[in-house]
Amino acid sequence: MPPLKLSLLKHGLLCMVMLICLNSFAQQSRQTIDFDKGWRFNLDAVNNGQLPGLNDAGWRSLNLPHDWSIEGKFSKDNPATPEGGALPGGIGWYRKTFTVPAASKNQLVYIDFDGVYQKSDVWINGHHLGFRPNGYISFRYELTPYLNFGGKNVIAVKVDNSVQPNSRWYSGSGIYRNVWLVTTNKVAIDHWGTYITTPEVSDASATVNLKIQVKNRAVKREVFTIKTSIYNAAGKVVSAGGSIPSKTDLQDTVFENSIDITVKNPHLWSVNQPYLYKVVTQVISGKTIVDTYTTPLGIRYFNFDADKGFSLNGKLMKILGVCDHHDLGSLGAAINTRALERQLQILKAMGCNGIRTSHNPPAPELLDLCDKMGFIVMDEAFDCWEWKKEKYDYHLFFKEWHKRDLEDQILRDRNHPSVMIWSIGNEIPQQHDTSALRIAPELANIVRKLDNTRPITAANNNPDTSNKIIKSGAIDLVGYNYHEGEYAKFHSRYPGKKFIATETTSGLETRGYYEMPSDSIRIWPERWDKPFIRPGNNVSAFDNVRPPWGSTHEATWKVMKKYDFLSGMFIWTGFDYLGEPTPYSWPSRSSYFGIVDLAGFPKDVYYMYQSEWTDKPVLHIFPHWNWEAGKAVDVWAYYNHADEVELFLNGKSLGIKKKTGDDLHIMWRVKFEPGTLKAVSRKDGKVVLTREIHTAGAPAKIELSADRKLIAADGKDLSFITVKILDKDGNVVPDADNLVNFKINGEAVIASVDNGDPVSHDSFKVNYRKAFHGLALAIVQAKEKAGVINFTATSNGLQSASLVLTSK
Ligand code: GAL
Repeated sequence: MPPLKLSLLKHGLLCMVMLICLNSFAQQSRQTIDFDKGWRFNLDAVNNGQLPGLNDAGWRSLNLPHDWSIEGKFSKDNPATPEGGALPGGIGWYRKTFTVPAASKNQLVYIDFDGVYQKSDVWINGHHLGFRPNGYISFRYELTPYLNFGGKNVIAVKVDNSVQPNSRWYSGSGIYRNVWLVTTNKVAIDHWGTYITTPEVSDASATVNLKIQVKNRAVKREVFTIKTSIYNAAGKVVSAGGSIPSKTDLQDTVFENSIDITVKNPHLWSVNQPYLYKVVTQVISGKTIVDTYTTPLGIRYFNFDADKGFSLNGKLMKILGVCDHHDLGSLGAAINTRALERQLQILKAMGCNGIRTSHNPPAPELLDLCDKMGFIVMDEAFDCWEWKKEKYDYHLFFKEWHKRDLEDQILRDRNHPSVMIWSIGNEIPQQHDTSALRIAPELANIVRKLDNTRPITAANNNPDTSNKIIKSGAIDLVGYNYHEGEYAKFHSRYPGKKFIATETTSGLETRGYYEMPSDSIRIWPERWDKPFIRPGNNVSAFDNVRPPWGSTHEATWKVMKKYDFLSGMFIWTGFDYLGEPTPYSWPSRSSYFGIVDLAGFPKDVYYMYQSEWTDKPVLHIFPHWNWEAGKAVDVWAYYNHADEVELFLNGKSLGIKKKTGDDLHIMWRVKFEPGTLKAVSRKDGKVVLTREIHTAGAPAKIELSADRKLIAADGKDLSFITVKILDKDGNVVPDADNLVNFKINGEAVIASVDNGDPVSHDSFKVNYRKAFHGLALAIVQAKEKAGVINFTATSNGLQSASLVLTSK
């Protein structure tokens, strides 16, 4: 080998060794460990559960995230009431015994909670670290002064969700989000200590401004420099910048650095191409990297215009969003990234591009996913300020905690490119009260001090000019909840102001249940003094039932489409959620508002949005084709990419229909006869799509399909298995409610089961489920060992089915 090459090779090796050393030191400099495993839990009365010496060997072992309410029994007598999901609350204690290496003695150790519902007290080795009443806020405690380095430590958490009702929807109870143990050096970037903005963006170049807060906890002044590198999505450094050496002040002071870095020809973040960069900041003292910190970056610019509406990267578009609560259906409130990702995938496939985190700060994973998948987020802070509906909700804590909670939310979330609107409150009763003139500006100032790159709104159910929140001048976007009929007069009411539909629609549907005739809108209650009564507490899925304050899906979308200044909408809701079972109460225990049911099965109206909001060719016909002979059945079709649809019954044409004007569906009234209903959509005479529905016979067999057959062996990943009850010819039996039993062998467990029925009181945490309108769901969760998973479904009198999954 020629000497030059040898020396190059040597040099390369040396560089590699140096890199490895630097890297391994860099890793030591900040460590963030998943702290979810190996907790003990007790829901019985515990005295002094914080004492380090307490014997907790008899407590239940579990891994976080954990929601104890979802494991309980539904009862109308639970203090949460059906509005809160009818599940039990209580006081729960969590403890974890852990060791911290002696080698960390000169470092700082913190515990980060992403969210605990609610009123949590935390102790380390018997020392009380603090109390946080807000069940949705993320918080950190420092453990350093109280730790036994090299020895045993006990962290204890008391969670008090006993005093209810404290929520208008299902909250869940417990340490339901992730927990992290963070170790840093004494000079390190502070908690949520970076702030990225992109003050100038063009196709040619973007200026990325990074503000970095370095905290010095050492006893002396320290000299350090900062180096920041921007990595593109392929992991290549595209630009870098740094600071001149700076000297920190004395102990416990924060040093602010501001660095501008230029990115040439930036890939812009958009809802269709959510391109993400990564910003890696190193704090260097002498030759040592004392801290390495990563901040997400999406380069985009957006604008709300009073007349033209919303634009992203200079292109006009509408925010087509949904509101969602935080529960994950049968999994309860316990955060699971895959479950959340599945929800977002289902919404994305519908054409949805926006999420409102109603009505509280979300799990951080939601924002990571929205960054990655291309959703525009309205990040909401509060459902109440100083009073609202529930006797024991956050209003009890608002005065003392709102500043801290709101600051923490903004600091945590302001680097996410997906977040484009802050909301300081939902349907705050004080919009009718002069106190809003004081509180709204105060909240808006808290937000603006920490982030002035995003507009602030509030979700108002009184859009009239008498509204004191709007009157206060604190909000940038006038947010309307409902009142679609008043959109047209927005500019005469609020000249020059910018509009956002913070909450819309409120259609009510049960998946798979239909009432004829379909072409009259039913307002619930049909009369205020009369309850809404239907067999099985069902609501017809023809998009023709709505509460008095909302509109149907079609009616709302027709208005939204009409005016450019209507910058965007957030439909109530994307998914059904636990609690608030409008228009019923007990025995119903979950909502009917979702475009998708609680199990994740789309209702028919999902396809109306898909036909309008995506480029995908759509032809969806419904209802099912099992009726009494001679009944007049309305057949609806949602379609796009076609000029007409022809419907055939048993081969005989029932005529061609076309949408006219602002129609969003077409309809045939058909005298039922069993057989095959076939729809054909055509454009310029050419067939675009064909759909068939057959009259189903008796239930004969089970069909299983998994959304993913290969899952990660990480103890968290999920496979969602759809269970269908079919007749002997393979048609879904629309009224099938067979009880299906599940068996699982191998490296996974059944995490929960569901069928989307808002009235079922069966536990979600068992291995059986009745089908509901022919469908059920089993959620399988990987263990930590890789291997094969055999899943079987059986039901009396039906041919069983099995699936083989793999975890790796
Ligand atoms: C809204 C409210 C939501 C939900 C919805 C039901 O007024 O903001 O939280 O209650 O009504 O339609």
